[in-house]
Amino acid sequence: MSEDIISADNLSVVVNAKQILKNVSFSAKKGEVLALLGGNGAGKSTTIKTFLGLMTPSSGTASLAGVNVAMSPDIVRKKVAYLPESVMLYAHLTAIENIRYFLSLSGKTKSDNEIADALSRVALQEKAWRLPLGGYSKGMRQKTAIALALLRKAPILFLDEPTSGLDPVAIDEFNRLVSQLAREGATILMVTHDVYGACHVANRIGLLRDGEIVGMFDAPANGNIDPKKFIPPSPGE
Ligand SMILES: Nc1ncnc2c1ncn2[C@@H]1O[C@H](COP(=O)(O)OP(=O)(O)OP(=O)(O)O)[C@@H](O)[C@H]1O
Ligand SMILES: [Mg+2]
Repeated sequence: MSEDIISADNLSVVVNAKQILKNVSFSAKKGEVLALLGGNGAGKSTTIKTFLGLMTPSSGTASLAGVNVAMSPDIVRKKVAYLPESVMLYAHLTAIENIRYFLSLSGKTKSDNEIADALSRVALQEKAWRLPLGGYSKGMRQKTAIALALLRKAPILFLDEPTSGLDPVAIDEFNRLVSQLAREGATILMVTHDVYGACHVANRIGLLRDGEIVGMFDAPANGNIDPKKFIPPSPGE
């Protein structure tokens, strides 16, 4: 049996005496996409931040490739690319300049060809590559951030509501890219409100409500949605 690459084991997080995550457990193996679905305030971003070492569990563990993040936070820098809810890139720099700058922060340099390949792959139109991000739409900024994540060649990806604010065509392109990255061996945790997107790209779907996992399902392989699956089990089931 292959090892879990992303694993939450009875993870609890308390902030200001409020319990935000309650004994959350899930896992994903190499090449799997796990989606966590939940409403506002369910604890989705907190889950990701705990895996990034930005929040400390009060009990339980968040592990990446078998390494406890709280004990060895370096694993995050080595293995993870993170797409936050709001993409943080510089408005006065172009897509190419942003990518060069952020790669340099992690000690990486890439050739013009490699950067062009990544920007083509995320389908950012070529005429925008040398324009400042200040004039970009949300989808274009998102594509730039995804290209940066691709160039970092991270084996583990955390995506926080990656398709919110994107139009249907951009969502479709994005979902296809996520599936492709998983086929190439990336392990991906995506948190979202989007049931439809989750069903299209995820192998497993967890339902998070008030900091608790209230259901965990295998996603339908053909992308067809069975809404009955999203009725959480009753307590004790
Ligand atoms: N640093 C913090 N201090 C206090 N409370 C926090 C902190 N971070 C998160 N919370 C609380 O934890 C709960 C979960 O927040 P979280 O941001 O994880 O939710 P979410 O599922 O990502 O929601 P959204 O869909 O709105 O992004 C919320 O009730 C929030 O108010
Ligand atoms: Mg959030």
